[in-house]
Amino acid sequence: MFSTKNLSPRQLSAFTAFVLAVPVSLLVYFVEKKWLWALGAFVVIAGGSYLLISFVLERFIYRKIKLIYKFIYRTKATRKEETYYKYILPQKSIDEVREDVEAWAAENEEEIAMLRRNEQYRKEFLQNLSHEFKTPVFAIQAYVDTLLQGALSNPEVNKKFLEKTSRNVDRLTNLLNDLDEISSLERGELILYKQNFVIQDLVKEIYESLSLIAEANQIHCSIKKGCESPLTVFADQEKIRQVITNLVENSLKYSKKGGSITASMYKTDGKHILVEISDDGIGISEKHLPRIFERFYRTDEGRSIDVTGSGLGLSICKHIIEAHGQTIHVRSRESIGTTIGFTLDTRRD
Ligand SMILES: Nc1ncnc2c1ncn2[C@@H]1O[C@H](COP(=O)(O)OP(=O)(O)OP(=O)(O)O)[C@@H](O)[C@H]1O
Ligand SMILES: [Mg+2]
Repeated sequence: MFSTKNLSPRQLSAFTAFVLAVPVSLLVYFVEKKWLWALGAFVVIAGGSYLLISFVLERFIYRKIKLIYKFIYRTKATRKEETYYKYILPQKSIDEVREDVEAWAAENEEEIAMLRRNEQYRKEFLQNLSHEFKTPVFAIQAYVDTLLQGALSNPEVNKKFLEKTSRNVDRLTNLLNDLDEISSLERGELILYKQNFVIQDLVKEIYESLSLIAEANQIHCSIKKGCESPLTVFADQEKIRQVITNLVENSLKYSKKGGSITASMYKTDGKHILVEISDDGIGISEKHLPRIFERFYRTDEGRSIDVTGSGLGLSICKHIIEAHGQTIHVRSRESIGTTIGFTLDTRRD
């Protein structure tokens, strides 16, 4: 159907000129009864009004629209684009121009929202970072000051203060290492050295290396019954060691005395293996679950149990697993326990 809605300016001028010329030439024909006169009147009125209307549209409306286009396409126009603005653009209908401007506005709105989110993220990051650094630095400062003010010659406290200073220096070192790790992960610089290895063997090695801490807390670490038969995965063994160590350390930290930690591994389909570390510790309440993989994010319960953690462990785990093209997820319930699972590729020959 013919519609006047989506006409380009030239079509619009031609249409209006036609609408003007037809009745006038008909009138001339009825008055003069000479069809040549009527034709002449039609040509003169149609041609004249076409030129006049297109001039007015071009001069007062489309020039301004072209200016708007220059603003919304921020990059400087090339010669080809200039030609486009000059000769092709005026062919667009007002409706198409409106759509272009609306699309531009939506795109900008999205960009602004993203910038706002990033700004918020940056603020939180700096706040967290300074907080994490402040605590050990102030502690070191206090111990050193006390030692210098005379405690150094007091054999009862000097060693204890030096040990505490050393522990805080360790904490700073760990924090710096974690930050270093996370910034290189976020820059996408992680190079994976993938190989085939048996996941159960790796879990046993990690249990072994953390056995002193586990014994001190009377926590029993095991591999779930039925999951003992060796499963070979294809991944970067050292990076996955770091992930499982972080998860088991968390389970050790956030479990009660006498608790237990269980590792389970399953073949999900022909291509993937699911590894899960479960504990029956304090658990994580539902409101915290969506955020625990964010850097520096810690629950209040977590903070009150472990004052030295920085909240970077799980976010490092997530980066490593995602660099493998896999996923990591959490299931947890307060006072019941936590399970964190991730997938890996099965062996590759
Ligand atoms: N197994 C778990 N049980 C209960 N809460 C957990 C468990 N694992 C993680 N959390 C919660 O998630 C938070 C984030 O864990 P994450 O490992 O990232 O940091 P962290 O252990 O506090 O510090 P870091 O690992 O950097 O030393 C913890 O502070 C804790 O509140
Ligand atoms: Mg941790």
